[in-house]
Amino acid sequence: MKKGKFIVFDGIDGAGKTTQLDMLARRMTDDGESVYITAEPTGGDIGRLLRSALSGAEKRSECEMAVMFVLDRIAHNAEIEEKINDGVCVLCDRYYHSTLAYQGKTTDYAWVRSMNIDCPEIRKPDACIYLDLTPEQSLKRISRGRSSVEIYENLEKLTEVRDSFHSVIEDLRQTGEKIFVLNADCSREELAEEIYAIIKQL
Ligand code: TYD
Repeated sequence: MKKGKFIVFDGIDGAGKTTQLDMLARRMTDDGESVYITAEPTGGDIGRLLRSALSGAEKRSECEMAVMFVLDRIAHNAEIEEKINDGVCVLCDRYYHSTLAYQGKTTDYAWVRSMNIDCPEIRKPDACIYLDLTPEQSLKRISRGRSSVEIYENLEKLTEVRDSFHSVIEDLRQTGEKIFVLNADCSREELAEEIYAIIKQL
């Protein structure tokens, strides 16, 4: 049986990952593909701990966060693997690119990179769609759509994370990873069209 593709979406908060992921899934389903949408942090035990820490409700060190994201991801990979082997395309909202960008910046990049990239139980995606947005645009979108602002969501932090994402992309491209950087400051329909064209080529 043909294996499913594993496609991840990443970018700073407010870039529109979730919307674009849903739009792509609908389009792929219309084309007759089986699609499974998922996200990190997951809804599993570690994922729930992560959400609580991200909201600021529970205090965790940056190193603890890095390891927890890896643990969550390893458990997630068992599920992803199963879907892919069943011929299902998996679309994931955030993946290790986020850990490298966020926790790689606040702890030790080489350590975080190795835990993710060298782990035999963490699969490399077939493609990463990186939605790029300026921190100002991001913050505008975030404050429009949400009541509570997470610990990583302020202008200074968003600027740092975006720079960090750009270094991560450069780094991972050297390993042969297919990463597509798209300007997310356009209409959702335009962006969806661009993403669909890329995925069709895969
Ligand atoms: P996000 O996709 O913004 O979830 P939601 O739309 O439900 O708020 O992700 C939550 C936060 O998690 C986001 O600020 C980035 C952070 N994060 C990391 O710091 N490292 C990671 O590895 C992942 C997957 C997310």
